[in-house]
Amino acid sequence: MQNIIIAIDGYSACGKSTTAKLVAEKLGFTYIDTGAMYRAVTLYFLQHYISLDNPKEVSKALSNIHLTFQKTASSTNADMFLNGLNVEDEIRKMYISDQVSQVSALKDVRVAMVDQQQRMGKKKAIVMDGRDIGTHVFPQAELKIFMSADMEIRAGRRQQELLEKGQLVPLTEVIENIRKRDAIDTTRKESPLVQASDAVLVDTSHLTIEEQVDIVLHYATEVVTAKMKG
Ligand code: DC
Repeated sequence: MQNIIIAIDGYSACGKSTTAKLVAEKLGFTYIDTGAMYRAVTLYFLQHYISLDNPKEVSKALSNIHLTFQKTASSTNADMFLNGLNVEDEIRKMYISDQVSQVSALKDVRVAMVDQQQRMGKKKAIVMDGRDIGTHVFPQAELKIFMSADMEIRAGRRQQELLEKGQLVPLTEVIENIRKRDAIDTTRKESPLVQASDAVLVDTSHLTIEEQVDIVLHYATEVVTAKMKG
């Protein structure tokens, strides 16, 4: 497959990451989970008691944060490393999900993350998932997918994912967290979550992961074929 950028945006817990990972694997592209980056920043801010209302503190903290994706022996995909430490498991916990939308709404945080994401995508051949990839990080992406799904289905899937990682979280708590994050992510001032006008809308409510992957691969093939025709 020709090197293109595939941007997958959408609401929390619609299956973006799972789909993006598998699409990247099938195409031999690099998968970049931008949510993991915002989660790692949130972890650092919590560990260092950074006040979100204090721009100087935020900016100093950001200059001390070094994020990398690294493959490990036990992971099929790259894990998130924060200042050299593997934080992949920690950043998926509920206390991070509870704070990440507030942290990712800050302009300085977004500027720093977007800069790094754009550098990672320079060579193309990437599948990047997030909230503002098609609208802000790579508005020129060759393929933009916007994922959505019914709340109950999203919450049920997220609860199952958490359970598989050993965290038993009541469904009501999962729903509350998703609703709160959707609300903050869609209404924030800095690059809010919105479907790009040229994005393909995929409702994953009644799709299996395999079907989601096939849909994205179908559009990717279409885009590449059209590009070759010129
Ligand atoms: O994809 P995720 O649920 O792990 O993302 C966690 C949060 O990070 C999400 O609620 C909003 C924020 N985020 C963002 O603002 N922009 C992105 N490109 C990716 C995530």
